[in-house]
Amino acid sequence: MLTRLCFYEVVDDITTAVETFCPGIVSCADILAIAAEISVTLAGGRSWNVLLGRRDSRTANQDGTSALPTPFETLSEITKKFTDVGLDTTDLVALSGAHTFGRAQCRFFSGRLNNFDGAGNPDPTLNTTYLETLRQTCPEGGNENTLTDLDPTTPNDFDKNYYTNLQNNRGLLQSDQELFSTSGAATIDIVNRFAASQSDFFDSFAQSMINMGNISPLTGTNGEIRTNCRRIN
Ligand code: HEM
Ligand SMILES: *[C@@H]1O[C@H](CO)[C@@H](O)[C@H](O)[C@H]1NC(C)=O
Repeated sequence: MLTRLCFYEVVDDITTAVETFCPGIVSCADILAIAAEISVTLAGGRSWNVLLGRRDSRTANQDGTSALPTPFETLSEITKKFTDVGLDTTDLVALSGAHTFGRAQCRFFSGRLNNFDGAGNPDPTLNTTYLETLRQTCPEGGNENTLTDLDPTTPNDFDKNYYTNLQNNRGLLQSDQELFSTSGAATIDIVNRFAASQSDFFDSFAQSMINMGNISPLTGTNGEIRTNCRRIN
């Protein structure tokens, strides 16, 4: 998976630089939190104060990955995974707005393009013009690793277009479009609010990133400071 490889290499470079000047002080968890904030501001988003002092896990937690949402789940399943870790519906809609930049592989949405319902039809919540574009990017039997933009309008900018895309049925992942297209969902009003006001989105995104960063961090003498973010010391 190309995206993940690049990601690790960037993190390796940051760790090497940080360890040269502050050996054993800065955790990988803090490096990732700061890198996320800098990425957002470089792409045109607003900055926030990243709380520091997290430490790194002493174990690899494969089971813990099942607590992460997948792009194929229903809105109620994803909402439950968020509330299980103390994040609410506003956090869910605001944090999903990170899909205003970056890419995704065909494998994560190609099931929406041709036989979503088992009767040969695409996902009815997918814009038909966008559907044609995505079918060209991800032809049946093609390479499921091919990357495409999560935000087809401004793929590299951190802005509110993720939400205007959802209003136009142009969410790439099922988990994106569900925020707007699930009938009666509380998320619809929040999508509309962020689509109408970029500063409302930026305010909520900053707060929700802090909320997410506060999900049971290791502090004090728990955990360790990893010298290589890819593995425990
Ligand atoms: C709500 C549940 C979420 C689901 C189901 C989800 C799912 C995904 C998937 C499937 C991809 C494509 C990965 C690939 O093709 O390798 C992706 C990419 C991405 N996600 Fe999410 N995501 C979620 C929430 C978040 C949150 C909370 C953030 C950050 C605040 C985030 C930020 C990103 C970014 C920046 C990318 C692009 C990565 C790149 O270009 O390398 N996502 N997400
Ligand atoms: C499909 O997307 C276009 C913009 O690309 C938009 O003008 C149109 O209203 C969308 N259609 C629906 C049904 O959302």
